[in-house]
Amino acid sequence: MNDLISRLETLKAQRDAVVLAHYYVDGDIQDAADYVGDSYYLSTIAKNRPHQTILFCGVRFMAESAKILSPEKTVLMPDTLADCPMAHMVTPEYVNDIRSAYSDLTVVCYINSTTETKAVSDVCVTSSNAKKIISAIDTKNILFIPDRNLGSYLQGFFPEKNFILPNGCCPVHDNLQIEDISSIKSSIPDALVLSHPECASDIIKVSDFVGSTSEIIAFPAQSAAHNFIIYTENGVAHILKKKYPSKVFHFPSPPPVCKDMKMITLEKAVHALETMANPIEVPESLRKAAQKSLVRMHELAD
Ligand code: 13P
Ligand code: SF4
Repeated sequence: MNDLISRLETLKAQRDAVVLAHYYVDGDIQDAADYVGDSYYLSTIAKNRPHQTILFCGVRFMAESAKILSPEKTVLMPDTLADCPMAHMVTPEYVNDIRSAYSDLTVVCYINSTTETKAVSDVCVTSSNAKKIISAIDTKNILFIPDRNLGSYLQGFFPEKNFILPNGCCPVHDNLQIEDISSIKSSIPDALVLSHPECASDIIKVSDFVGSTSEIIAFPAQSAAHNFIIYTENGVAHILKKKYPSKVFHFPSPPPVCKDMKMITLEKAVHALETMANPIEVPESLRKAAQKSLVRMHELAD
């Protein structure tokens, strides 16, 4: 392990590389990364850091978003097959069909979507900036893609808007069962439930706090509670335990695991920087079309 970390450090200097990791990858990669965060934070860092090479330890839409915003940089992934299944649950054809049916419509695209879908959308959002961005939208109709759970959670804050929601979801969060909350609460009744808005509405309703991955990680700092029931991917356990050694974090059983995030390993990270193989490429016309929705996200949220 130490050998891999020192090889990574040497390669980072040789390749002028910055290593970014999402909170859902394994703890050893989070520890080796220069920046660890949620989707929005990582998109901001990828755009702003001066390094020539970005090694993105996350899933494909994250690395592609970095390439779309910084085409002059080399963007690598430890495993280019790590992909988010939800990103493929809506197609550009679906978006175009809905667009042709409404004259007063904004297409709001969760960043967890393909480059092709971003290219036909008006603005991207993440779970940490969606409320702020939707507040700035003046159309009555909003096509929110692809996550129906995040979309219906947001709809609750904007009763004046007409949300159109397709049937996409994150299989990891959507699978979480409310019974696990009752079972943990039966022995620890004062445990607080912190959930990600990709969870289904029955879980959102009984949650004490709903927020993005980073917001969930920040929450215990300002809470007197000792026990927390965490309804998001198990990778956050690593930072929660480090940040709050005296607090206890309970997860649904079995712990929620995104198998695509777990395809990222330290060995593959070192290999990617060693070989510089398989850089992320996006055809220029597609990149320019997708860039608009990501730039608008950063303009409205930064
Ligand atoms: P955030 O990182 O924005 O919380 O999103 C969670 C997620 O599922 C990333 O794939
Ligand atoms: Fe996609 Fe869900 Fe995995 Fe995030 S946790 S990458 S939304 S499948």
